[in-house]
Amino acid sequence: MTLTLLFSAPDRTWPAYETVLQQALKTAGIDADLTRSARPDAVDYIIYAPNDTLTDFTPYIRTKAVLSLWAGVEKIAPNPTLTQPLCRMVDPGLAQGMRDYVVGHVMRYHLGMDRHIHGLNGAWDHITPPLARDRPVTVLGLGELGQSCARALAALGFHVTGWSRRPKQIAGLTCVSGPDGLKMALKTGEIVVLLLPNTPQTENTLNAETLALLPKGARIVNPGRGSLIDDDALLTALDAGQIGHATLDVFRTEPLPQDHPYWAHPNVTVTPHIAAETRAQTASEVIAENIRRGEAGEPFLHLVDRAAGY
Ligand SMILES: NC(=O)c1ccc[n+]([C@@H]2O[C@H](COP(=O)([O-])OP(=O)(O)OC[C@H]3O[C@@H](n4cnc5c(N)ncnc54)[C@H](OP(=O)(O)O)[C@@H]3O)[C@@H](O)[C@H]2O)c1
Repeated sequence: MTLTLLFSAPDRTWPAYETVLQQALKTAGIDADLTRSARPDAVDYIIYAPNDTLTDFTPYIRTKAVLSLWAGVEKIAPNPTLTQPLCRMVDPGLAQGMRDYVVGHVMRYHLGMDRHIHGLNGAWDHITPPLARDRPVTVLGLGELGQSCARALAALGFHVTGWSRRPKQIAGLTCVSGPDGLKMALKTGEIVVLLLPNTPQTENTLNAETLALLPKGARIVNPGRGSLIDDDALLTALDAGQIGHATLDVFRTEPLPQDHPYWAHPNVTVTPHIAAETRAQTASEVIAENIRRGEAGEPFLHLVDRAAGY
């Protein structure tokens, strides 16, 4: 039977997927009509980007699952019209991109690269950075991306503490959970990386109270979501020197408005949500595998826990 697969994403996304997704479906042995528009009651699976215009899933009565092209699903997870299983994107290309971004920005802070890149103005200022093993780094969120970054940092020798909702044991990492675990993770974190999802529980994880727990001058790297940080509290902590610098990739409003204080702040680096992008080639293989599983009656990969919101 030929399956009908609706590719529901903005037009600019389609060229990257059109050929590679067809190929991945073929390789997985799936006979499918991959289309950009179809009668809702004929659609078997929806391949979905959460910035698409489709938001009412009620007429998709035959659809067996919605397969997100994004890792973050906060825009679709609370949608009450979606009654079908929702799978998020876990893509090796995405994980590699995030590791590259996080390791690069942590290294910038660790080595104090800015001093030399901006120039010492002739001062032979002989300050050597500590070794990675003497630098405590905290990673908030130990999921697919957080854990991958935490392991990469630990492999470089950093002492990494990771925080998650549920307790974990991961070789080479100090793992903590719950409110006391967060306090402990922040007290030691000279560099803090945020890789939590956007849920009501994670909103303002870094606020005036928790920023004050960090060692003075701590640096922050946030490629998670803008909602994880109370922006006013961060600006106050930056101005007071409690936070030495922040690299922010994600914001409550994107693109970041031109008049936002982050743009001009001397101790903030803004990157325009480029930390990690889903790669069409590897993501297509994940989508095809999930459709194969759906048709074979096997459990879907990367199913979203709708109650937890991620
Ligand atoms: N900037 C970019 O380009 C970009 C690209 C992709 C993704 N992202 C962001 O990165 C986020 C993380 O992605 P992922 O694939 O690693 O997600 P994930 O696999 O779902 O992992 C989420 C992690 O956060 C933890 N967590 C969730 N709620 C928590 C809470 N209330 N308290 C403590 N820990 C909590 C989870 O704990 P448990 O392990 O106990 O469940 C898990 O370890 C995404 O949600 C998205 O927002 C950004």
